[in-house]
Amino acid sequence: MEEWIPIGYLLSAALFIFGLKKLGHPRTAPRGNQYGALGMLVAVLTTVIKMEAAGDAKWTLIIAGLVVGSVIGIIMAIRVEMTGMPELVALFNGFGGAASALVALSESWKYIEDSTLTVPSGLEIQVIMIAAGLSALVGWMTLTGSLLAMFKLKGGIYIPFSKKDDRGRRKWLNTPTWGPAWLNPVKVLLVIAVFVLIYLSIDDPRNTDYLWAIVAIACILGIVLVLPIGGADMPVVVSLLNSLSGIAAAFTGFIVGNSVLIVAGSLVGASGLILTFIMCKAMNRTLPDVLFKSFGGSGEKAELTRTKVGSDADEVAMMVDGAQKVIIVPGYGMAVSQCQHQVKEFADLIAEKFGTEVKYAIHPVAGRMPGHMNVLLAEANVPYEQLIEMDEINPEFPDCDVAVIIGANDTTNPAARSGEGPLAGMPIIDADAARTVVIIKRSLSVGYAGVDNDLFYMDKTMMLFGDGKAMMTGLNNAIKEI
Ligand code: TAP
Repeated sequence: MEEWIPIGYLLSAALFIFGLKKLGHPRTAPRGNQYGALGMLVAVLTTVIKMEAAGDAKWTLIIAGLVVGSVIGIIMAIRVEMTGMPELVALFNGFGGAASALVALSESWKYIEDSTLTVPSGLEIQVIMIAAGLSALVGWMTLTGSLLAMFKLKGGIYIPFSKKDDRGRRKWLNTPTWGPAWLNPVKVLLVIAVFVLIYLSIDDPRNTDYLWAIVAIACILGIVLVLPIGGADMPVVVSLLNSLSGIAAAFTGFIVGNSVLIVAGSLVGASGLILTFIMCKAMNRTLPDVLFKSFGGSGEKAELTRTKVGSDADEVAMMVDGAQKVIIVPGYGMAVSQCQHQVKEFADLIAEKFGTEVKYAIHPVAGRMPGHMNVLLAEANVPYEQLIEMDEINPEFPDCDVAVIIGANDTTNPAARSGEGPLAGMPIIDADAARTVVIIKRSLSVGYAGVDNDLFYMDKTMMLFGDGKAMMTGLNNAIKEI
């Protein structure tokens, strides 16, 4: 039986790597997810076999955890709305970080309590304590930071038993975006304090005060790191926290001497970091800017003073009739109204009826999670070749007769080019360069970053006010009647 243990771990590491590879394309991503889940199952079962072979009967606890965790995971995955995914990811990141930190804590505790215990693979207790300190720093910071990120994405903290409002919802405590300049040196000092504590623990590895102090500082660090971050920068932070949860797992793998945990943690750490930098590039931010400049908006919404008369579906249908090239720009509102099927129907209708060339412009941070638009449009069977990334599609807008924007706002807001405000420097979809712009949304209200959008008020812009699904259905009916 024992000879299967390294093979089991190797198999699960291979499944993680293949899974990650398959996540690179929307078509293969579901299979990638299944490979990852299978890899995790193989790793857990291999650990159970390892414990059984060593005569450790506590593996029953692991099986119980596997069953309970799977049931909770399945229920959460079924119940979560597509628009609530970023919050769920943030929550899972936090739990991942906490799980790693807790395992590292309990493992190092064994050596602290019992000085006769031999440390695995010839490591010194000091090495274990350094790894435990690093795991505690990253793990606890990830937990508190991710929880705060989740509440920020949700728009506030739920207070149990509080009075319900008219719509039957309980009160939420607003999560502020707060970060005065003096907070930056405080963050640096806190990180330095943790490294000093880890250094001190080398000389006195069995002194638990150091470990507890590190846990406390790491919890505070997670909060002060995420507190100042607002608006557009939030997705970058969630991705960074995801990466940190992987790094915490890798440190813990080192302490428990588990190679597959080191491999899996490193994969999560590296891929999360790559995604973080891709997103920073997409928003024209550097990581230090995101973490220290509180750049992503104060959370305040701009006051609207201008008005615009709305158009109707017939007017828009008549205009699309003459168009040779239409570019559809989806955004968060498409996800909210779940109108991706109606959008696909619209594209098919005009291609068939008027011979129009249709493409989709995909902004890297449109919606509320990486790949949000790709996932929704893939669900509606939009061909992948029609989904064009921002950099590639932007030069096509001057030749585009109609840009149809469905529930996108910040990602098309020309204010981003001004160099000022919460959206400053974020590359946008150049929909304003199209000959005519149609925008489908319920009102003139601002997007996620809280900035008013000049595009709504341009002469060439037609606003179709209403819920995405209702408006798209109306537009499709109007086109069918032409
Ligand atoms: P947003 O700027 O968030 O704007 C979405 C618009 O959709 C809103 O202005 C809203 O206007 C409209 N809308 C909401 N419900 C609708 C419905 N049922 N029907 C029609 N329209 C509806 O969207 P975006 O352009 O996709 O930009 C995304 C923003 O989110 C960026 O600032 C980005 O940084 C941030 N963000 C992104 C991510 C990732 S990773 N993608 C994660 C977190 C945050 P009305 O209320 O007037 O309808």
